[in-house]
Amino acid sequence: MNKKESFVIEGLAGKKTFKGKVSVNGAKNSALKAMAASILFDGQVMLENVPNTSDIQTMDEILTNLGAKVQWTTYPDSKKILTIDSSGIKKTDIDPELGRTMRASVVLTGPMLARFGKATFPAPGGCVIGARPIDLFIEGYKKMGATVVLENNLYTIQTSKGLGSTNIAFNRVSVGGTETLMMAAVLSNGTTILENCAMEPEIVNVAEWLNSCGAKINGVGTPVITIEGTNGKLLSPKESYVAIPDRIEAGSYIILGALCAEELLIENCRPDHLDTVLNMLRESGVNISIQEGKGLNKTICVSNPATNSAKTFKAFNVQTHEYPGFPTDLQSPMSVFLTQTSDESKVTETIFEGRFKYVDDLTRMGANVTVMNPMEILIKGPTLLNSLPDAEELSAFDIRAGFAIVMAALVGKGKFVVNNVHLIDRGYENLEERLQDIGAYIKRV
Ligand code: UD1
Repeated sequence: MNKKESFVIEGLAGKKTFKGKVSVNGAKNSALKAMAASILFDGQVMLENVPNTSDIQTMDEILTNLGAKVQWTTYPDSKKILTIDSSGIKKTDIDPELGRTMRASVVLTGPMLARFGKATFPAPGGCVIGARPIDLFIEGYKKMGATVVLENNLYTIQTSKGLGSTNIAFNRVSVGGTETLMMAAVLSNGTTILENCAMEPEIVNVAEWLNSCGAKINGVGTPVITIEGTNGKLLSPKESYVAIPDRIEAGSYIILGALCAEELLIENCRPDHLDTVLNMLRESGVNISIQEGKGLNKTICVSNPATNSAKTFKAFNVQTHEYPGFPTDLQSPMSVFLTQTSDESKVTETIFEGRFKYVDDLTRMGANVTVMNPMEILIKGPTLLNSLPDAEELSAFDIRAGFAIVMAALVGKGKFVVNNVHLIDRGYENLEERLQDIGAYIKRV
């Protein structure tokens, strides 16, 4: 990871000239959890369609540091498979430095507690998107029968006789909380009922795989999940895990297509995971069609026919929500879209505080955005986004806001420099190459 890399981008000045295809990768937010779940298995697991983003590499490093064997194999048909054998793990403490670089490392603590009865981990880091507490994990572990000690900024969770039956009602919906406690319960000595669970498709993806290998998880994808523990029996790696297409990556490219492309084919997506986003864009006037693909995976075509070139999309309001609502991870790309629509829109963030840091950069480019309060902005469009005075540069604040700012630069007029590209690399594999392939001028320096 090179923290000094930037993108240099030449904008289209509002023209819609990109043309071509992008293929959506596997969902990193599912694959990361599947990697953590490898600890629940007796022997080596095979994970398919795992994207090679830097968050995945960090999880690889953490698992390797614990003693697991993690290996990437590329087959002759260029299919890449990640294999993980956790049987060599002897350590129960997550490297604090690695753990702090990525909040998702906390999901490892569920499988570690389940298998080894102990896990030590740093108070987590991650994106710079406001306070990200872990009280739901800690309260859950205590209810499951573990002790929790916080010392020198390190948590140690421990149980001497395994985790037992319990009923946990989350006081707020949490993706990480749901999947971590679900994984912790898989090997327990009893039945765990989780209420007010997150219903994200990435959680379903991991749970279905675990079930195909001996776990007994019911109700995933609904607010109530019931896990019948295996009484300590490890899962057997009968089936490979296959990551579902990344709906956030797909959504990012759909918005990019609407703003910048004559025609963009986004292959390997699950439109059924993007209903809210697709409906909003269609109602705004974006031309979107779905073409057949393999099984549930489809191709989404976003086009701006030349006959429509003068058309301006209609403004709309956005409020982030847990799945199946509008994803917080697409809030910043959608706000960039709304700078190009006619009229006023309101964007309300309900999941994370501090997710509007990118707004300053948009304003410096000429967007008309008013911050009403830390959770709400008003956008008036359409505005031409302009390059900045000499020596002024843009910045990626988190993975998604990074993509959003790259997109704003592509829509804008002139030359832009976007710093902190390492944050974008956490979630988007080879972004610049994929953008170059559809006609963008973007260079990593
Ligand atoms: C995951 C995703 C992230 C996405 C988010 C919401 C991964 C690696 N990341 O993050 O991209 O934006 O879901 O869709 O999958 N909270 C607490 N206490 C806790 C845990 C969470 O108060 O113990 C709060 C958080 O601060 C946040 C809200 O609950 O305000 C939702 O967070 P959560 O769903 O847990 O997000 P992550 O799993 O971290």
